[in-house]
Amino acid sequence: MKLKGINVEAIRKDFPILKRKINGKSLIYFDNAATSQKPRQVINAISKYYSLYNANIHRTIHKLGVEATEAYENVRDKVVKFINAKHREEVLFVRNTTEAINLVAYSWGRANISKGDTILLTEMEHHSNIIPWQLLAKEKSANLKYIGITDDGFLKDDEIKEYLDNHPKILAITHVSNVLGTINPIKEIVRYAHKNGVIVLVDGAQSVPHMPVNVQDLDCDFLAFSSHKMLGPTGVGILYGKRELLENMEPFQGGGDMIKEVHLNYAKWNDLPWKFEAGTANIADVIGFGAAIDYLNKIGMENVRAHEVDLTSYALNKMSEIENLKIYGPIDVNYRCGVISFNIGNIHPHDVATILDSEGIAIRSGHHCAQPLMERLNVPAVNRASFYIYNTKEEIDIMVNVLKEIKEVFKI
Ligand code: ALA
Repeated sequence: MKLKGINVEAIRKDFPILKRKINGKSLIYFDNAATSQKPRQVINAISKYYSLYNANIHRTIHKLGVEATEAYENVRDKVVKFINAKHREEVLFVRNTTEAINLVAYSWGRANISKGDTILLTEMEHHSNIIPWQLLAKEKSANLKYIGITDDGFLKDDEIKEYLDNHPKILAITHVSNVLGTINPIKEIVRYAHKNGVIVLVDGAQSVPHMPVNVQDLDCDFLAFSSHKMLGPTGVGILYGKRELLENMEPFQGGGDMIKEVHLNYAKWNDLPWKFEAGTANIADVIGFGAAIDYLNKIGMENVRAHEVDLTSYALNKMSEIENLKIYGPIDVNYRCGVISFNIGNIHPHDVATILDSEGIAIRSGHHCAQPLMERLNVPAVNRASFYIYNTKEEIDIMVNVLKEIKEVFKI
C-alpha cells in the first residue's frame, strides 16, 4: 500500500511490536502522541552500542571511548540538520521536553524574570509548559497570563496581539496542541513577539515528530522536544536555544562534563553545548535517537506530514458520521495534526478506552496532562486517538466500527 510516498507496509515490518496480539486481536496503536513505537533500527543501534563500544564519552582516549564519543556527537550533528539550527552549540541533549523547559525556566528565567514581570502562556499548554513557569512566577512574584482559545480550538488572535503588546518577558507556547491537534502559526507569532522584544520558547513535543520544523525559519529563541515521540528511546530530549542566549545563561545542573576547570572555591564552565550537559549522558539512547532521525529522514518529514493529513482527514470524516460523537479542535486538516480528541455523549472516556483496548486498540483517555484545557473545554476528560507513520485507514475503520458498537451498547 503506497500513500503519498510512504510505503506503510514496508514500514510496519520494521516495528516488532506491531506483530503483537492484544486480547487475541492485532495491535492497533493509536497512542502516538503519548509515545511512538520503535523500529528495529533504533533497537539495534542501542544494542550495538552496548555490545560493541560501550564506554563513557568525552573523558577517555581508549578506542571504545573515542567511538562512543564520536557516535554521541554525530547525533548532535544530525539534530542540528534535522531542525536546521545555525550552530551545533545550539543543540543540547536533555532528558525530555519537560527537562528542556525546566532548564530555560531555571537558567534563563531566574536571571531575567523579576517581580511584576509577565510570563505569557496559552490555554492549550500541557503541564510541562505550565508548571516550570508557575514555580518561577511564585519564586519571583511574577505574573502568569494565558492567551485564550476559541470554541473551535484556535488561539484568540486579538489576545495574542493584546498580550504581546503589553511586553511580557517571555512567551512559552506549544507548536501543536497535544489535545486539540491545532497547529499554531508560530512563525507569525514569533515575528510579532520579537517586534515587542519578547523571547519565545516553542514546545515542539507534538510538532517536530510530525512535520518539517526549521528553527531558523521560525526564528524561535528556544525549541523543546523529545526523542520518544519520534521513534527514538525515552530519556532523550532536545533543547535548541539561540547561541547568544545560551552563552549568557548560567548552568542548569553542576557536575562532571559541564566544567573546564574546578578549584576548591571556584570553577569555570565548559563551552556550549556541554555547559548544559552535566554528568554522564544518556549515551545509548542518544545513539538510538540518531537511528530514529535517520529513519525519519529516509521517509522525509514532508511525507510523514502528508501521510498524517491523509489519515486524519479520513478519520475526521468517518468519525463525524457517528451521531453524538463530539470532536475537539479544528476540523480543517491544514490547521491540525493527527491527534483527534473526542467524546461520545456522556460515556466516560475510560469506558470507551477500555472497550477499545479489549479489541486491541490503544488510545489515551483522561486529561492528557492538560487540566487547564479540560477546564476550558468544560469536560473532565476526553478520548484521544493519535496517528503516526505505521497507521493505516484500515485500522481507522476498525476503530470507527467499535465506536459505533459502543454507542449502540450505551444507547447514546
Ligand atoms: N504529553 C504526552 C501526551 O500528550 C505524554 O500524552
